[in-house]
Amino acid sequence: MRLLVTNIATLVCDRLARPRLQGREMGELETLDDAYLMADDGEVSEFGLMADLPTEGIRADVTIDAKGGMVLPSWCDPHTHIVYAGSREGEFVDKIRGLSYAEIARRGGGILNSADLLHSLTEDELYEQSMVRALEIMGKGTGCVEIKSGYGLNTADELKMLRVIRRIRESVPMHVSATFLGAHAVGRNYTKPQYMDLLLNEMIPEVGREQLAEFIDVFCDEGFFTPEETARILEAGAKWGMRPKIHADELAASGGVKVAIDHGALSVDHLERITDGEIDMLRNSAVMPTGLPGTSFFLNLPYAPLRKMIDAGCAVAIASDYNPGSTPSGDMKFAVSLACIKMRLLPAEAINAATINAACAMGQSGSFGSIAVGKRANFYVTRPLPSIDFIPYAYTTSIISRIVLNGQPV
Ligand code: NIG
Ligand code: FE
Repeated sequence: MRLLVTNIATLVCDRLARPRLQGREMGELETLDDAYLMADDGEVSEFGLMADLPTEGIRADVTIDAKGGMVLPSWCDPHTHIVYAGSREGEFVDKIRGLSYAEIARRGGGILNSADLLHSLTEDELYEQSMVRALEIMGKGTGCVEIKSGYGLNTADELKMLRVIRRIRESVPMHVSATFLGAHAVGRNYTKPQYMDLLLNEMIPEVGREQLAEFIDVFCDEGFFTPEETARILEAGAKWGMRPKIHADELAASGGVKVAIDHGALSVDHLERITDGEIDMLRNSAVMPTGLPGTSFFLNLPYAPLRKMIDAGCAVAIASDYNPGSTPSGDMKFAVSLACIKMRLLPAEAINAATINAACAMGQSGSFGSIAVGKRANFYVTRPLPSIDFIPYAYTTSIISRIVLNGQPV
């Protein structure tokens, strides 16, 4: 099947196909004006200037006339919790009245509240509720997404979540990666030692045996899991081939960055309270630091210092963190705007953070995250826009006119 897109005012393309961009490189966004783009059997096969498109001889099964719109690579969202039950707007109001996220968690709300709700749903009900969000983010331009478990907090419910993630992967044309986050909180009715035992000796082996997760995550933060506990959990996951992606430095400087580096994590995420020493460590590591600007926006937390990190020579990614407690939004365009407005990233840097580097944070930058020959043809066509900078500037304006995933219009 061949797809041809014509009359593209500006194509955001990637001839160098670098696996990630670091420091100064993050400001580079290759573009081609007045372009066409072709995909064969789901992969980008060719792009070039409209002037060089042979007027005869190119046969396509589907042709999209971009009519002067732009074409950008689909967003990659490397950190979400979109499989959850119900919603938590009660806590939203509590927070407006003055309670902090950490206080709500200490009182037994927060993640445990979502675990109770999830326990009461059948697998089918959980799938139905979660698919609404999967389709929502797809409609907003996401083409590759990571989804975590972590609202089960007992073996049966964690497995239920991971099976739902697998079912979503089979139902949508987005690429879906699954992460086991049993260590999101200590489940109700367990002490910490009992829960650690359950994680290490029951949950991880079950998840591994059923091959339900590519990645393993731990909420390594004050009041949740310590760096020592995190290391033990990651080592248990590694025995089953699960690569780490870690939550760290959200509520306090947690020591999670060092654990992430020592264990070859794909990414270390949140980083609202990252220290200068940790920035130094990350600069020379393969771990992708991932900021979650929507979380800082929603919880009124400090923003992760991504500007400082890029200036220090780091690569950075951004993700939505879509979840019911700290970020009830999976809108990657809005995350890009927040990265510009609140973290002082330039539009090109924020777009790279949400595409190629975000794909790298999922180990997927060879196939996703940019429009390069041989990569998956995942992109969207915009309506005519004055410039690329307009995208984060118009921070609630929708810009998408067509979405193409795997070379097929959706
Ligand atoms: O990434 N910080 C930990 N986990 C989620 C929030 C989970 C929740 O509150 O439901 C996050 O922000
Ligand atoms: Fe998260």
